[in-house]
Amino acid sequence: MSVSHPSVQRVLTGITPSGTPHLGNYAGAIRPAIAASRQPGVESFYFLADYHALIKTTDPARVQRSTLEISASWLAAGLDTERVWFYRQSDIPEIPELTWLLACVAGKGLLNRAHAYKAAVDKNVAAEEDPDAGVNMGLFMYPVLMAADILMFKSHKVPVGRDQIQHIEMARDMAASFNHLYGEHFVLPEAEVDASVATLPGLDGRKMSKSYDNTIPLFAPAAELKRLIFSIVTDSKAPGEPKEAEGSALFQLYQAFATAEETRAMRTAFEEGIAWGEAKQALFERVDAAVAPMRVKYEALIAEPHVIERHLQEGAEKARAIATSFMAELRHAVGLRNLAVAFAAKAADKPKVALPQFKQYREADGRFYFKFVDGDGRLLVQGAGFDSPRDAGRCVAALKQGTPFHIEGDGMHVDGARIGDLADGVHADEVRRALASLAA
Ligand code: TRP
Repeated sequence: MSVSHPSVQRVLTGITPSGTPHLGNYAGAIRPAIAASRQPGVESFYFLADYHALIKTTDPARVQRSTLEISASWLAAGLDTERVWFYRQSDIPEIPELTWLLACVAGKGLLNRAHAYKAAVDKNVAAEEDPDAGVNMGLFMYPVLMAADILMFKSHKVPVGRDQIQHIEMARDMAASFNHLYGEHFVLPEAEVDASVATLPGLDGRKMSKSYDNTIPLFAPAAELKRLIFSIVTDSKAPGEPKEAEGSALFQLYQAFATAEETRAMRTAFEEGIAWGEAKQALFERVDAAVAPMRVKYEALIAEPHVIERHLQEGAEKARAIATSFMAELRHAVGLRNLAVAFAAKAADKPKVALPQFKQYREADGRFYFKFVDGDGRLLVQGAGFDSPRDAGRCVAALKQGTPFHIEGDGMHVDGARIGDLADGVHADEVRRALASLAA
């Protein structure tokens, strides 16, 4: 489980809850991520990037609904929450905290070059608007928040789409700057773009994406799934006319859910002029067969949001076990320190001298005594005789905890009771110093 253990690879990816999961999300992200999480030697961190969602939408109901649907989808698709870290970003307060530390080492110029921000600026410039019109700091800081997500858990690999590669490079950049300034705290992450993972076409043949409004929801009821599949745009080739499998959205969708053998058979059917209606029916049946068992689980989960919430809470607890201790290390590294501990630690760094100590013992008179001696064993305080070891112990504990004492003659008093005598030639200040060094 150790991060420095080279044979354990930490894989982390975030899912922004701003829409309903569709077939493209399933084939392109959910399915490969769950398969990867089952490999030996990997620790997978999958989380709902709900702080990121606030940059994309200002509709609270949509964020909440999407968080529910995406969580339910991953669980229904077979994610094993015992095995992976599955959590919601906003349940980990250390992430925004780390975002700030990273913001303090991130060059503004670096962030100026982020694709999403630049695209917004370019659009404004083209429209002869102020370059930053309509741009909020959330959009500008997006890569910093994402770097915090990744660096918090010392992830080695970050599986993402091509559009996110730049963000991983920025995370590396911030990690390297921080390490340079404050010591090696962060692992430098790498983007992992898996070319074998399917990018699915949507209803209109363009990439399936909520921004094109061409998606097929992953858990649409069967009738709706069928209706949508039958609405996929095709050309006007008649039944019996040979059809091109390559480049056909229908064929690509089929392939994403079929075995190699089924895919071969479908390719032949295309060459032999399968009617579009027939191909759509085959696609519907294939997708429905894959999705139906998960749909049952999905619907059960959606009906019990508290079960989903419990999974997320447990995930947050697991993730915070890592985040809180790492954040403590980072706070210390940058100088956000508990003063008492920091300066005491400095005192303890001095050349090792033995600490003063209390010694408790019983005398022949049957009473219980203590001595307080300095590091060299010189007697500082000779305690009075107590009736029981508990009384002697209490008195020692009181002194260790810094309970004030006063001296009358050579007698040492705590709370009005005489508890012992200063040894010959010992000054009260010496005792105070010795007690303070013990406390430190
Ligand atoms: N920006 C990612 C996306 O839109 C989502 C995300 C947020 C993410 N934090 C991340 C992905 C950390 C990988 C690692 O797809």
